[in-house]
Amino acid sequence: MKIIMTKNYVELSEKAAEILISEIKKKPNIVVGFATGKTPLKLYSLLAKSNLNFSKIKTFNLDELYPIKKSDKQSYDYYMHKNLFNKININPENINLLNGNFKNPGKECREYEGKIRKNPIDVQILGLGVNGHIAFNEHGAEKTSKTRLVELSKETIKINKTKNTKALTMGISTILKAKKIILLASGKSKAEAIKHLIEGKEDENWPVSFLRGHKNLIVVIDKEAGSLLHQKL
Ligand code: GLP
Repeated sequence: MKIIMTKNYVELSEKAAEILISEIKKKPNIVVGFATGKTPLKLYSLLAKSNLNFSKIKTFNLDELYPIKKSDKQSYDYYMHKNLFNKININPENINLLNGNFKNPGKECREYEGKIRKNPIDVQILGLGVNGHIAFNEHGAEKTSKTRLVELSKETIKINKTKNTKALTMGISTILKAKKIILLASGKSKAEAIKHLIEGKEDENWPVSFLRGHKNLIVVIDKEAGSLLHQKL
């Protein structure tokens, strides 16, 4: 695990953008896994301003609320188009998002997992839930879990200010298959989860801790997210 400690959210976003942009330059047809939430917003605006050629990249998003229509402003489909896809020259055919309006979520998830198997993710961007969730893998998610329909915890429903109690999410095993993972965490509210990731051990109660064993994990945090760490970085 490589840990990059930054002084604040802006520096964290610049660092993440620098790493991802260099990966895209190295491999123009890269497969990128994207996340939603507040944390990657500045990264996405930096990507949009970069003038980079995104025409060959393929993307897979981590999760989607369920049930939800694409046009719903709370949907992650809407978020990704508004904050990134509409601002870059990505080929719409290369965008993969879980469909929160699909009547058969089991089938949707199996097909999504199959598509990822055929197009392995080179770089996965990850945010972090206050309670240690990654994507929507909440407490008790298994390391072997795949893309599936899940129940959200009460805490997540409250923090995300959503009416949805369910979501579709890549599983922990799906995420761990990414060749490189860049986890972003900013602010004091993420400090406990970061401590479990960096100084703890694998623990189902803190799904983020399953990333510990990944061979190519980069953790980009700011001082506040790292404030509970014993070790000096
Ligand atoms: C949601 C998403 C996660 C994201 C998390 C953190 O729960 N499903 O993928 O990492 O929010 O969000 P934020 O960056 O707003 O703290």
